[in-house]
Amino acid sequence: MTIDRRAFLAAALSGSFAFPFAGRALAATEVERVDALIARMTVEEKAGQMTCLTDSFRPYNPPNPQVGIQDEKRLAEEVRKGRVGCLFNGIGVAGARRAQEIAVKESRLGIPLLLAGDVIHGLKTIFPVPLAEAASFDPALAERTARAMAQEASAAGLHLTFAPMVDVARDQRWGRVVEGSGEDVYLGSLFAAARVRGFQGRDLRRDDSLLACPKHFAAYGAVAAGLEYGSVDISEETLRETHLPPFGSAFAAGALTTMAAFSEINGVPATADRELLTDLLRGEMKFRGFVFSDYTADEELIAHGFAEDERDAARLAVLAGVDMSMQSGLYIRHLPDLVKSGAVPMGTIDVAVRRILYVKMAIGLFDNPYRSISEEAERTRIATPARHALAREAAGRSIVLLQNSGILPLDPAKRQKIALIGPFGEDRDNLYGPWAFYGEKGKGVDIAAGLRAAMPDPALLSIGKGCDIMALIDGGVAQAVEAVKAADIVLLALGESQDMSGEAQSRTVIELPPPQQMLADAVAATGKPVVILLRHGRALALHGSVASAQAVLATWFLGSEAGHAIADILFGRVDPSAKLPVSFPWESGQEPFFYDRKSTGRPVIDNRTEYRARYMTTDNSARYPFGHGLSYTRFALENLKLSDTALRWDRAIEVTARLTNKGDRRGSEVVQLYIRDRVASRTRPVRELKRIERVTLDPGESRTVRFSLSRTDLQFVGSGNRIIAEPGLFDLWLGQSSEGGLHAQFTLYAEAVAPASAR
Ligand code: BGC
Repeated sequence: MTIDRRAFLAAALSGSFAFPFAGRALAATEVERVDALIARMTVEEKAGQMTCLTDSFRPYNPPNPQVGIQDEKRLAEEVRKGRVGCLFNGIGVAGARRAQEIAVKESRLGIPLLLAGDVIHGLKTIFPVPLAEAASFDPALAERTARAMAQEASAAGLHLTFAPMVDVARDQRWGRVVEGSGEDVYLGSLFAAARVRGFQGRDLRRDDSLLACPKHFAAYGAVAAGLEYGSVDISEETLRETHLPPFGSAFAAGALTTMAAFSEINGVPATADRELLTDLLRGEMKFRGFVFSDYTADEELIAHGFAEDERDAARLAVLAGVDMSMQSGLYIRHLPDLVKSGAVPMGTIDVAVRRILYVKMAIGLFDNPYRSISEEAERTRIATPARHALAREAAGRSIVLLQNSGILPLDPAKRQKIALIGPFGEDRDNLYGPWAFYGEKGKGVDIAAGLRAAMPDPALLSIGKGCDIMALIDGGVAQAVEAVKAADIVLLALGESQDMSGEAQSRTVIELPPPQQMLADAVAATGKPVVILLRHGRALALHGSVASAQAVLATWFLGSEAGHAIADILFGRVDPSAKLPVSFPWESGQEPFFYDRKSTGRPVIDNRTEYRARYMTTDNSARYPFGHGLSYTRFALENLKLSDTALRWDRAIEVTARLTNKGDRRGSEVVQLYIRDRVASRTRPVRELKRIERVTLDPGESRTVRFSLSRTDLQFVGSGNRIIAEPGLFDLWLGQSSEGGLHAQFTLYAEAVAPASAR
């Protein structure tokens, strides 16, 4: 399947989206119903609809500091009085029903509650973290897992997930890299749309449709130095070109809510930024849904030094375009008086309430307030075997083979003695990743269990922890070395704990903790062949014996079926086919590091390094580039052809090449098409990804891959925010990563100029 979504980028850049509200137009009668309701609402009831609080009707486990109403009785009273319109981060049907009954039967207007939660990569069945899944380079897979998550979440009494996170993340020090699709705008946009489609399904009114909330608007991933909650200082062009398209793509796919970022952009916190949340988001991008604040982010305007006090903060947020205040309670406390005093027009409140009620209407809550609250669904739809099978498939498709001397795959028939060494071998606390707090703790399949299940003779497996994640254990390294000496091959499971990435987990150095590096060096010194199994929520800078191991696998946080999926890859039951969605630098200090960087005036050419754009200790290249990932078979890409080297303004050119499986196993390759605009009125990146295509081939089999390119693929945000394509010479590469590949050139001709071939 060719993934060809050039329209989204053009549309995102030009802001020319036209999408039906809620994936379907609301009927006139539904609009009238909302209007009639708003006419009857008091200002307090309106502020209530604009308030979202943590759900103490049912067990919840917020990742955030616990503030606000913590007990069911008090919260019930708020619902009864119509002082809250949305609850979040509780799951379970019984509690959802209790809450909804109060809203519908006991509040004056009977407006149903919207029930939300952070279902980022699974409810009970945990799928790979989003970054890992992006490594599949297969948006269709993400659509399937999002659908599965929606089926579970909606069976647990949820209507909306605060996902997908679509922030482009280019600094691996930032912990939230793990929640998104990595560093690339094109890949990120494909996954954003796929996940929205998966969560929401085809019909928003269905019981198993889960509203999506692409977040965090906008440029949250661009926080300076990767410091969580930090500041963003960014050009308007980069904001639009790099950070907005995944949002545009998610909205075009039908997302009806979004969340304002915690961070500030160019001196204005996103939560209070009217230009961002109103002029740009609604005016230019034509977003028709409603905006959540992030958790207490309106209140945080005070700490930002932007608002004087709570009242001022509520005023600024609502005027900027934040429709729903999350958790601070500021709207319900201050909006009624702000309206009364004239500081906030009633019209502003009405618009916000209307947006929220439209969404409730669109998902059918007014006709069936108990949708997604079904005891039977809760019993039958959660953690089913089919879902576990999908989690295993997704996990296998997320593992990236970074290097392989030929040691992998292991042959189970060989009766090799395997030593599984390292803090993650038998660890079940770090399988899921940082955003899976509804998953049953300790229930995932660890590496040891996965290996035992795959080995004909599990007695051939020995296990040694060697060290803890962050500390040496007394005698641990020595014991591990003894176990290694008795083995034929070593699997070394190293990496980050799951709380080393995720929200508020920025790191200054993106390396393995020193005790683990010491363990690896001691193990390597035995001379036994070593396979590194990395666990991580970001790209890492690998060194020494880890980087020079016979094989290295990026295994991220893979979820419920992690151990099985790792064994599937190690024993060759599944061929590795994933590609890096983030570049692995040589050193931490290269961050922020991404493949589509600028050339500079002094690039390193032909190894000439003096007075060139490089660091004293390393080239500014990647150890493993974006898009890199090996297979157990070998692919050859040959015979690159362009239908024309002249691309006319309103035409397209066809790019073809032949991919052959030259190895002796069936496998999949992702062919990647990159371009470079050689001369432009704003400098362009050294490469930009424009197309991907996944191809599966039997040994000896060949297939022609075909891509069509047109002017819109060459557009960028020029100065003054103009979307332009500029005539001139372009490089094109078709390859297996963002480095190397087959190369060709073509020229874009302006309308008025006849191309040479046409003369
Ligand atoms: C995060 C959001 C999340 C919210 C609710 C915040 O801390 O930034 O991504 O959806 O909490 O849990």
